Amino acid sequence: MVFVIVLIRCLSFISFSHAQSTTLFDPLRYVDPLIGSAKDGHVFAGATLPYGMAKAVADTDSEENQAGFVSGNDTYNITGFSSMHDSGTGGSPSLGNFALFPHTSCPNNDINRCIFPKAQRKKAFDGNSTVSTPGYFAVTLANKIVVDMTASHKTSLFRFRFPNNGSTTSSPLILMDLTDLQDSRQDNGSISVDSKTGRMTGSGVFKPSFAAGTYTLYFCADFQGAAIKDSGIFVDSRASAVVKDLLISRSINGSPLPGGAFIRFHNPGDQPILARVAASFISSAQACSNAEREIPDFDFDTTITTAENAWRSKLRPIVVSKNKINSSLLTNFYSGIYRTMVNPQDYTGENPLWKSTGEPYFDSFYCLWDSFRSQIPFLTLLDPKEVSRMVRSMIDTYVHEGWLPDCRMSLNKGYTQGGSNADIILADAYQKGLTEGIDWNRGYDAVVKDAEVEPFDWCCNGRGGLDSWKALGYIPVQDFDYKGFGTMTRSISRTLEYSYNDFVIAQMALAMDKQADAEKYIARSSSWLNLFKDDTPSFINKTINTGFVGFFQPRYLNRTWGYQDPLKCSQIDDNPTSVCSLQNTAAETFESSIWEYSFFVPHDQAALITTFGGPQAFVRRLDYLHDKNITGIGNEPSFLTVFQYHYAGRPGLSAKRAHFYVPQYFSPTPAGLPGNDDSGAMGSFLAFTMMGLFPNPGQDVYFIIPPFFESYTFKSPATGKTAKVRNINFDPTYEAIYIQSATLNGMPYTKNWIDHSFFTQGKELVLTLGRNESSWGTLLQDLPPSVGTYVGFNGTAVSRRPWLERTGKIERSVEFGGPRKSWGGVMQPWT
Ligand SMILES: *[C@@H]1O[C@H](CO)[C@@H](O)[C@H](O)[C@H]1NC(C)=O
Ligand SMILES: *[C@@H]1O[C@H](CO)[C@@H](O)[C@H](O)[C@H]1NC(C)=O
Ligand SMILES: *[C@@H]1O[C@H](CO)[C@@H](O)[C@H](O)[C@H]1NC(C)=O
Ligand SMILES: *[C@@H]1O[C@H](CO)[C@@H](O)[C@H](O)[C@H]1NC(C)=O
Ligand SMILES: *[C@@H]1O[C@H](CO)[C@@H](O)[C@H](O)[C@H]1NC(C)=O
Ligand SMILES: *[C@@H]1O[C@H](CO)[C@@H](O)[C@H](O)[C@H]1NC(C)=O
Ligand SMILES: *[C@@H]1O[C@H](CO)[C@@H](O)[C@H](O)[C@H]1NC(C)=O
Ligand SMILES: *[C@@H]1O[C@H](CO)[C@@H](O)[C@H](O)[C@H]1NC(C)=O
Ligand SMILES: *[C@@H]1O[C@H](CO)[C@@H](O)[C@H](O)[C@H]1NC(C)=O
Ligand SMILES: *[C@@H]1O[C@H](CO)[C@@H](O)[C@H](O)[C@H]1NC(C)=O
Ligand SMILES: *[C@@H]1O[C@H](CO)[C@@H](O)[C@H](O)[C@H]1NC(C)=O
Repeated sequence: MVFVIVLIRCLSFISFSHAQSTTLFDPLRYVDPLIGSAKDGHVFAGATLPYGMAKAVADTDSEENQAGFVSGNDTYNITGFSSMHDSGTGGSPSLGNFALFPHTSCPNNDINRCIFPKAQRKKAFDGNSTVSTPGYFAVTLANKIVVDMTASHKTSLFRFRFPNNGSTTSSPLILMDLTDLQDSRQDNGSISVDSKTGRMTGSGVFKPSFAAGTYTLYFCADFQGAAIKDSGIFVDSRASAVVKDLLISRSINGSPLPGGAFIRFHNPGDQPILARVAASFISSAQACSNAEREIPDFDFDTTITTAENAWRSKLRPIVVSKNKINSSLLTNFYSGIYRTMVNPQDYTGENPLWKSTGEPYFDSFYCLWDSFRSQIPFLTLLDPKEVSRMVRSMIDTYVHEGWLPDCRMSLNKGYTQGGSNADIILADAYQKGLTEGIDWNRGYDAVVKDAEVEPFDWCCNGRGGLDSWKALGYIPVQDFDYKGFGTMTRSISRTLEYSYNDFVIAQMALAMDKQADAEKYIARSSSWLNLFKDDTPSFINKTINTGFVGFFQPRYLNRTWGYQDPLKCSQIDDNPTSVCSLQNTAAETFESSIWEYSFFVPHDQAALITTFGGPQAFVRRLDYLHDKNITGIGNEPSFLTVFQYHYAGRPGLSAKRAHFYVPQYFSPTPAGLPGNDDSGAMGSFLAFTMMGLFPNPGQDVYFIIPPFFESYTFKSPATGKTAKVRNINFDPTYEAIYIQSATLNGMPYTKNWIDHSFFTQGKELVLTLGRNESSWGTLLQDLPPSVGTYVGFNGTAVSRRPWLERTGKIERSVEFGGPRKSWGGVMQPWT
């Protein structure tokens, strides 16, 4: 049975790509949704549409089942087939609500001899039976039940094929469990089954994965394919075909009490039984109407085809050359892109929190601290229409809840990891020209509120410590903050992130002609300097001197310095007891070291380079960060560090570093990701890196390295124009990865970065490669913009401050650097 289904899927695949090969490039051929579904990738491996709310997959009992299914380990069992998931996230397993589970029959046809509770009923499965393609997932249980599934936007369609052993008395059973992946169900779950139609409706209250509140989810399940024998409900291990409605408490001990409903069928023979399951955050009635509208006639194949076409049209704008390269690279690339559109999820029409004024509602921004760095910027390129809708949703969340979202899931405010990251996303979208339906005045109000007003719950939106921030220019360790509440750690990483948040607000202000605001926020964006202590050394294992002196350090309210080992919370931290996440006892840097955070001054690399002792010293430090395994590519703060060589006039070293990490740390296998995919953040890192254009998020800047392909074309969905990038002397062994010269639209181009108009105006970049670094992109005039002035570079000084140039007056704002001297006695880099 398995093999039949696998074969059918493969055949349709092959025939499609064959038929299309001469006409259309089919990117779906290169999407493997199982990448990142093993170990701690936590990638959702099942069936979904782009940004789909329905995410159907088999749930396993792995400890890494944050997204339900975990592959690559024969010891895992399948606990059920549920419809709601997130992808790539950390935290507790997310969603996984309302699992279905099949039994071939109950022993002696006695309903009470079927096993209902999740912990006991779970079944092993054949790992080699797993098939996953965009919009489709299949697996075979050890008892030979074959289950495959597909999804529309809010509805999952499951297909169960029971082994037909010829017995006419065999009565397969499908149960619906009022459960979720993390066993968080609260009082009062409910379920009803209609004995005539078999329709099941109900709801449950559950906890979000990484937030404090609860959410209520409703569902509607319908079945088709065989005559109904009987139906009823179960509680714990007992069931009854007489009782049709259940209201169940959580119960007080351990996991919630098992409860749900079942339906039994007369022997379906070889016919599959279909289960159509829709969820809604509004009501069961809405779930039912969603299901009836989206999949009216249970047409499995059409639902797959619709999903495939949706994915195909999303991926189609990027066409890469297959010339000379191993197709595993293509799989890495397109699968990475695919994952950028699994989360966030479009819950428009399903938001019970406020009355809709017609704005979209997106959820599963989990977390923007991960997504701002390259995922949302990637979507701004590939799917600007949807990013506009996401931005509208963020602004609408601000309008109704008072604050932009930061780490939102399941209708709740999740825990903020650092800065007010939505500021960067809004600024990025604003500068890249997204306008469609966005009220940018409101968007601006929202980011300014983040900068000016401290929320009572800065755990979960906005920023904390704003009084200190404004008065001192840094977040003090052990701050005095009586106005709002959140975990009082991360003083260094928050200072760095707030500095950048203020910078991106300044850019928006400038573009909106808000001169005074622009000056104010540019000045505040240099606050990072207040935590730089120029005599702090760094030792590995307390004995081996790294040779680098001068690091960010914690600072008290009274302006004296505290101390944190610069390697604490790095990958070579010698202290096994370091606590590095959101715990109350955690470090002053979030999930990362001072070493790595040292580079997080995305707006003023010129000043940072000077602070670190000039371009050569900066490069040595960046090399040390990577070569000594201090930074971890499996977590997002590392992303920008791969490309920061550009600012030191060494773009070739960024290319070299990109190849150091890709594909070695990102292979197109289930266990191939270096860490949590984080809603597609890792996927976007791969996609941008392999395209050879990586963004500095929040700025209109893409760093240029050679693409990993001989060439590609990108057709902008925003303008319909096609941009092209081509490597001359392309070397598939990747030894010739150094740009010797470049042309843009046929004219020599020496800047080592390019702006967004490259994509929207359909320009052509041609790169000539060689085996050694060259002088291309190394001169002062070639460097990406920076607030401060570059010192120690060859070339002709040009203003590195395009955003400051637009008005003459703003230049004065650098004088704001003056008072900082007295704050910290730190070097004044403005010249
Ligand atoms: C499979 O999972 C089991 C249970 O979690 C674990 O002990 C084992 O190490 C895993 N095996 C592999 C190959 O990952
Ligand atoms: C899967 O179930 C088998 C049999 O009940 C059990 O031995 C095994 O430990 C389970 N796997 C996990 C990961 O719990
Ligand atoms: C597939 O089958 C092979 C050979 O029996 C086995 O070694 C491998 O572990 C299986 N793979 C999975 C994912 O179960
Ligand atoms: C067929 O399946 C039923 C239900 O599992 C079982 O009772 C019966 O013994 C099976 N018959 C054969 C011939 O295997
Ligand atoms: C759960 O239902 C019971 C019985 O109707 C009711 O007394 C109780 O207040 C409900 N609890 C909640 C949290 O709604
Ligand atoms: C392509 O790359 C994969 C993974 O690195 C490798 O196993 C395979 O042998 C390569 N194929 C060719 C034709 O080089
Ligand atoms: C630091 O100490 C750890 C644990 O003793 C050791 O594994 C590591 O190799 C040491 N690092 C260096 C650079 O010596
Ligand atoms: C500043 O505050 C810290 C922490 O409370 C304290 O240890 C230190 O002695 C204070 N320094 C001065 C100069 O008061
Ligand atoms: C780097 O650190 C990680 C995390 O501690 C470890 O898993 C990995 O083996 C290290 N790599 C090297 C090359 O030392
Ligand atoms: C590249 O550099 C190496 C050593 O740095 C040198 O031996 C070699 O000739 C250079 N190759 C070219 C093509 O310039
Ligand atoms: C400037 O040019 C000199 C002479 O060519 C060279 O030695 C030096 O490394 C260059 N400096 C930078 C920062 O590129």
